[in-house]
Amino acid sequence: MITNTELEYKGDLFPSKVTGFSKDVDSVYFNTDNNVILKITVLRDSLLRFRYTTKGYFSKDFSYAIDKTQSHGFNALEVTEEKNHYQIQTSKVICKVQKADLRISLTDLDGQLILDDEKGFHWEESYHFGGNIVKMSKASRDGESFYGMGDKASHANLKGKRVENWAMDQYAFHKDQEPLYKVVPFYIGLHHKEAYGIFFDNTFRTFFDFCHERRNVTSFWAEGGEMNYYFIYGPAMSDVVTTYTHLTGKPEMPPLWALGYHQCKWSYFPESKVREITGKFRELRIPCDAIYLDIDYMDGFRCFTWNKDYFPDPKKMVAELAEDGFKTVVIIDPGIKIDKDYWVYQEALDKDYFCKRADGPYMKGKVWPGECNFPDYTNPAVREWWAGLFKELISDIGVKGVWNDMNEPAVMEVPGKTFPMDVRHDYDGNPCSHRKAHNIYGTQMARATYEGVKQFAYPKRPFIITRSAYSGAQKYTSSWTGDNVASWEHLWIANIQMQRMSISGMGFTGSDIGGFAEQPSGELYARWIQLGVFHPFCRTHSSGDHGDQEPWSFDVDVIDITRKFVELRYQLLPYLYTMFWEYINDGVPMLKPLVYFDQEDPQTHYRTDEFLFGNHILVCPILEPNAQGRRMYLPIGNWYNYWTGEVVSGRKELWVKTDYDQIPIFIKEGAIIPKYPVQQYVGELQFDEISLDVYFKLGKENSSLYEDAQDGYDYNKGRYSLSTFRLKGSEKNLIVQQFKEGKYEVPYGKYRINLHALPFKVKRIYVDNERAEFDTVSFDGKTLVIDKDFTELHITAE
Ligand code: GLC
Repeated sequence: MITNTELEYKGDLFPSKVTGFSKDVDSVYFNTDNNVILKITVLRDSLLRFRYTTKGYFSKDFSYAIDKTQSHGFNALEVTEEKNHYQIQTSKVICKVQKADLRISLTDLDGQLILDDEKGFHWEESYHFGGNIVKMSKASRDGESFYGMGDKASHANLKGKRVENWAMDQYAFHKDQEPLYKVVPFYIGLHHKEAYGIFFDNTFRTFFDFCHERRNVTSFWAEGGEMNYYFIYGPAMSDVVTTYTHLTGKPEMPPLWALGYHQCKWSYFPESKVREITGKFRELRIPCDAIYLDIDYMDGFRCFTWNKDYFPDPKKMVAELAEDGFKTVVIIDPGIKIDKDYWVYQEALDKDYFCKRADGPYMKGKVWPGECNFPDYTNPAVREWWAGLFKELISDIGVKGVWNDMNEPAVMEVPGKTFPMDVRHDYDGNPCSHRKAHNIYGTQMARATYEGVKQFAYPKRPFIITRSAYSGAQKYTSSWTGDNVASWEHLWIANIQMQRMSISGMGFTGSDIGGFAEQPSGELYARWIQLGVFHPFCRTHSSGDHGDQEPWSFDVDVIDITRKFVELRYQLLPYLYTMFWEYINDGVPMLKPLVYFDQEDPQTHYRTDEFLFGNHILVCPILEPNAQGRRMYLPIGNWYNYWTGEVVSGRKELWVKTDYDQIPIFIKEGAIIPKYPVQQYVGELQFDEISLDVYFKLGKENSSLYEDAQDGYDYNKGRYSLSTFRLKGSEKNLIVQQFKEGKYEVPYGKYRINLHALPFKVKRIYVDNERAEFDTVSFDGKTLVIDKDFTELHITAE
């Protein structure tokens, strides 16, 4: 960090009077007397881009974050000149630009203020950096709240905080620690029931101040680059999030197994240990789909090699694990050991693919293998070479997923824990220093890994997980939250981080269940598993420098709790897969914080613990030892207690009693929750039925179910099955309609319908208008089995 004295603060500079404007298709340019240009581009009616330069011209426009395949289009763009300002109007927002000083204000069409500049754009000439620090300050409204920003380990509502974006290896980080591993310069503001978003697409070190320094001011600034931000108008927070996710890109469907339970440790070796672990999962009948090999599988930590003493025949081991349903995931770090007898090092040297210091030699730093050089993943040729390195691991040995770590990039034994700032990067043909490329390095590594694994896994889907990421990384990879600690506070942090990542476009994320550093008690591990099965990525991992962290390292009640909750996750796989489908298609976050669910209710603005898993399941973890239940807040609507079946109406606080093997889980009334039978791994069973848990509602509710071949790309050719269920309940009738689309034939033919809280005694049942015969044996009033596909189910008391 640079101190103020070093910076020799010269004072801020501001745009002067606007001299005129010009319009060019979707953009409007404003020029000032002192060489500032503001370019406002309308991408959609509710998505505006603001770009400033102080040089009198713009540099080449390039971003790693923005998804170039996204489509744009707006309905209206009108520019008018008034006495003191210019006005740009779309069909959703009005943007005013002050003639005197280029300050901006944004309102909705009713004139309600959404966001306006305090000082607005300004900059400081930093001779330390030899360039500008670009700054923006916005006025903040009373009662305004702030959300988003990726993996921050702080309260969900960032009001009153200052955060820093600089990818950093933060072993055993703590609450409010800044910065962390990921960089997502995107926040959501909410005031007067309206939400908007700001995405500051600048990869230099950035800061965001949410009314921390000054009570009514929000500001953000970068130590270089351009003031370049996107404004997203809601007014629903859900629209802000989906627009942001659309802008920065969505992933492909993961293989279904990747949504199963994963087991990891630093490190499982030798081979006999790996088999002991996988064998124990099957013996104890705790479902598990993936086993991880951490750095010790390699020969001297050299990427793309194997320690043949520990793993004499990796291909055979991986194949045998696969027969037992385990997919093998291996770690690959960016540091390439300096060793002239190591082929990867030699190849990179021959091709000149390592990052260089400004004065010539390759950047050298210490990581696990000792002295290393580091590929420049911001060079497309390097990415292509890197992708090719996965051929043997994936095509030949049969590894199914790759885990990218230490890619902040982390360097040991140096104060900043990373590269010196003068290191040069290609930045896809926009050569720059590490100051600009640092935050994007990990994402470009994960991207290259993704390209490689995808190429060699084809026609199957790849699975990648990364520690460092910048906005948009979700296009290529899942992530985890790095080296957390086995403490109750970290369980609280994990819960917030996953909700935050979800509304920051990067939903496929999980924490190291149980904590990476230190040893969890059995109770803490149990409480963590109970939450972790509701996170999109679900993996136990630990540093291995303390006791063991497999479920059986704890008492038998912890084993039983683990089994019970992991089984629940496996039953809910079709529900989770449908959540994923909504995420990749519409950018809908898989986890929804309460404020996202009901932004009109001010009670939700400071809630941290409760969240929606998908659209219909409300989860609230237990975050304290010895709990017999907890106080929590139920949002709007009526909810079924999952364990007791009791209906509770929301927008109120309540005490929920739970036993040790439970956490508060509520199902939204009217929901239809699809469930598969418990399997020990995805694809273990060929089942001929699916369960639909139907929760009665007086009124209407829609649910969906997405299915496909669970792997491969046929879903892109229409071979998927999407059912929309429309439930309609009245005092004496329940009607469930099913609308199907897609060309995928589901392998089962039966529906097991579990009816919850039907308020009447059933007299007749009609399936597609045909009266179904039943007696008390085939139908007990609660469970109904239909042995064919149906479009309408009518259950009646009449
Ligand atoms: C880092 C990772 C951790 C991994 C370890 C050894 O600390 O965050 O997950 O186990 O390195 O590879």
